[in-house]
Amino acid sequence: MAAECEAIGVVGGGQMGSGIAQLGLVHGLHVYLSDSDPEALARASKSISSSIQRLISKGNLSEAEGSAALQRLHCTSSLEEMNGCDVIIEAIVESEEVKKKLFVELDRIAKAPAILASNTSSISITRLASATKRPAQVIGMHFMNPPPVMKLVEIIRGVNTSDETFLATKALAE
Ligand code: NAI
Repeated sequence: MAAECEAIGVVGGGQMGSGIAQLGLVHGLHVYLSDSDPEALARASKSISSSIQRLISKGNLSEAEGSAALQRLHCTSSLEEMNGCDVIIEAIVESEEVKKKLFVELDRIAKAPAILASNTSSISITRLASATKRPAQVIGMHFMNPPPVMKLVEIIRGVNTSDETFLATKALAE
């Protein structure tokens, strides 16, 4: 991954994915958010925008910062649009089979240096990584619920996760 992360992809716009996307946006990243369910994607977009409005009304973000954050949100039904992302975080349904299928897709789409991360609570990162040709660049990023409030992010290495991937992921979480 390039030294500085500028754009992330978030797959799954439910409880966790929408919170992770919001965090990225308010920290200056471009966020490509996708969900297989168009209604879930629309709900995620609405909830992110109302959370950012709340941050503005509480004085935690200026009007200009809030509107710039929302301009960096790219909701898309096509994972292909994540091909420029430095890190792609999945927060879809907790199923090994479904997550592995997604990792095969993301491995095909993501640029070569990109990191693929999973927000899984219980599935082996080593096994998810085995679905890809870049196991050194696969890692667990386990956010706590709700991500915009909870500061802890567990970073979980698979057996093949490289030091470079670990350090870049840690820097992103911080
Ligand atoms: P959720 O059910 O709120 O959201 C999941 C979203 O993923 C849904 O909008 C669904 O339409 C979408 N989705 C399902 N399959 C998809 C696919 N193949 N491609 C694209 N989108 C797909 O679930 P939640 O709670 O956000 O959990 C997501 C992940 O985060 C799970 O792996 C869960 O174990 C993990 N997690 C959940 C926490 C929680 O407290 N809810 C805490 C930490 C991790």
